[in-house]
Amino acid sequence: MKQILVTGAHGQLGSEFQSLAARFTDYHFQFTDIDTLDLSRPQNLEKFLKNRQFDIILNCAAYTAVDKAEDDRDLASALNADVPAVLADYCETNDALLIHFSTDYVFDGRDYRPYREDDRPNPVSFYGKTKLDGENAILFSLRRSVIIRTSWLYSSYGNNFVKTILRLGQEKQEIRVVSDQLGSPTCAADLAGAVIHLLPVFLSFQDHQIYHYSNEGVCSWYDFAMAVAEAASLPVSILPVSSGEFPTRATRPFYSVLDKSRIKALGIAIPYWRHSLLKTLDLILRKDS
Ligand SMILES: NC(=O)c1ccc[n+]([C@@H]2O[C@H](COP(=O)([O-])OP(=O)(O)OC[C@H]3O[C@@H](n4cnc5c(N)ncnc54)[C@H](OP(=O)(O)O)[C@@H]3O)[C@@H](O)[C@H]2O)c1
Repeated sequence: MKQILVTGAHGQLGSEFQSLAARFTDYHFQFTDIDTLDLSRPQNLEKFLKNRQFDIILNCAAYTAVDKAEDDRDLASALNADVPAVLADYCETNDALLIHFSTDYVFDGRDYRPYREDDRPNPVSFYGKTKLDGENAILFSLRRSVIIRTSWLYSSYGNNFVKTILRLGQEKQEIRVVSDQLGSPTCAADLAGAVIHLLPVFLSFQDHQIYHYSNEGVCSWYDFAMAVAEAASLPVSILPVSSGEFPTRATRPFYSVLDKSRIKALGIAIPYWRHSLLKTLDLILRKDS
């Protein structure tokens, strides 16, 4: 039976893997999070991995607070760059497969066409830079890995844009949301399902593969917020504003749509973002009631 380590098990993506795990009995999963394995000191990870044998590592742990990362640089780098480097060393020594998650924010978003895996990254935020450093650490020290870049992740677990709109939509009469940043939302349950489905294919790889995964379709954050508000019948006005009117600590790409042709060529069907949003909203609203 293949042994799988999942880091960041209490995050959005990690939680989705936890909820899927019981159905995939060919694999034995071990889940860790900050309470069982604090990754802020990569030495903790080295100690944890010593004398343990994993066939696959799904690295869902990350520092994902994009604005805070601008100031909390050491911790963001430790989690997003140093941890992947330690995992890569382990996988190289133990012939394990590292599946690592990265972000659309490795791109600068100036091209206004969907980004392919071989497009040149040029992050415009410190978070994006640390995620790119993590990718490069893996490519540098390991022969075999799968890096999956995703975008605008949300889930019924954890904190995310969808839950923020649901909360603000109840608290406020009016909210302002940027309408000039375009991307594709990703339902974390869809991503986790696709990864589990593709594990046998990924295990057959003998080199590095980078893939892009998001839901189908393109929208602005404003469109995304409107879709949440309409589906949940929120009593709130949502106003479209430009990024200039809504300054944030970190700069974000204006266009970060990912081209998914490569991962689709492996034979997976990707749901349209509005369909997955409705399913997830249903779950969130049922959990809350
Ligand atoms: N969220 C997005 O919109 C987005 C977009 C594109 C790409 N991604 C990438 O997708 C992946 C999954 O993202 P996500 O949204 O699932 O992230 P998330 O919900 O923020 O989860 C990250 C996980 O890392 C854990 N973690 C943080 N600090 C830790 C530490 N010191 N030691 C051990 N664990 C620690 C968190 O634990 P706690 O919950 O206890 O803090 C959490 O379980 C990440 O690689 C992220 O960069 C995310």
